[in-house]
Amino acid sequence: MKSYNIALMGGDGTGPEVLNEGVKVMDAACAKHGVKLNYTNYDFGGERYLKTGETLTQSNIDELAKHDSIFLGAIGHPEVKPGILEVGILLKLRFALDQYINLRPVKLYPNVETPLKDKGPEHIDFVVIRENSGGIYTGMGGATMVGTQNEVATQVMCYTRPIVERCVRYAYELTRKRNKKKTLTLVHKNNVLTHVGDLWVRVHKEVGDADYTDIKQDYNHVDACTMWMVKSPEFYDVIVTENLFGDIITDLGAMVQGGMGIAAGGNINPSGVSMFEPIGGSAPKYTGQNIINPLAAICAGGMMLDTLGETAAAAAIDKAVNDALSSGKIKSLSAGRMGMGTKEVGDLVASLI
Ligand code: IPM
Ligand code: MN
Repeated sequence: MKSYNIALMGGDGTGPEVLNEGVKVMDAACAKHGVKLNYTNYDFGGERYLKTGETLTQSNIDELAKHDSIFLGAIGHPEVKPGILEVGILLKLRFALDQYINLRPVKLYPNVETPLKDKGPEHIDFVVIRENSGGIYTGMGGATMVGTQNEVATQVMCYTRPIVERCVRYAYELTRKRNKKKTLTLVHKNNVLTHVGDLWVRVHKEVGDADYTDIKQDYNHVDACTMWMVKSPEFYDVIVTENLFGDIITDLGAMVQGGMGIAAGGNINPSGVSMFEPIGGSAPKYTGQNIINPLAAICAGGMMLDTLGETAAAAAIDKAVNDALSSGKIKSLSAGRMGMGTKEVGDLVASLI
């Protein structure tokens, strides 16, 4: 039997609760498809930081890197200053493991309410590929004369040709594999960012012209993209964009697909160790009450199996989520309003595998 070693990082707040349900559903799908997942638990997160002062050491990273994949609940603790855990754990892992793709599907499932008027599942089904290793997130830049009237601060949107190209190639491949509208939309702001935007535009065109003539090339400025995502989301098939623009438009994407309760993401190194997470955060006020929605974590588990190559088990999870929502038993995606508890949503989806 095929088996994989998975590092579980429940993290803070409701992270461990939603992760449990993700594991429950993955195990059901794997049992059905002849796959075995072996788990190791890690307690990285806010509580551990408050006790030890440590976020993630190099030896912790080396240990995590020995696994086939990492499943993350959420990072963020009300008693820890914002930034410490995000930078010290989440961003550190993305960079250390070179998880250069941040894959964020925006898909409206049946019976899920979207704030977009007159839009249904037939209109909202696209994927955002957010470049996850470069741009402003590299921290390049600096400050001088801090605290004076003449203070200077810069933060550079730094990209190299290879970093852009590996991301764009991944995006073309995925567009081909999805086999839907066969359109890859580059989102940038090359009317203002004439250097870095121009690099992205040229790479998108050159790679497409050379190796992906079956895929239609499209381009939107990022500001216009936020408008189209709301007005005509059915335009989109696959979007590829740089790191910060991707961060921003995927929060909009999460709302368009019905909220953080269903928004999953993958931090992917196609030839290394990837990490999957519900993107909603730790929601500390709901901790331990069995009221948080685990569907985003369940979907993230499905993405993990897909990336590991277990496509049948992954498809089974997507179908079970679809069926659970179609059944009408889950009343809302919001915490406390689901008409059932966190564990019961996990049980329902697992029973439909
Ligand atoms: C996300 C988050 C992170 C990001 C934060 C927590 C550092 O917003 O995963 O989208 O900006 O990438
Ligand atoms: Mn974000």
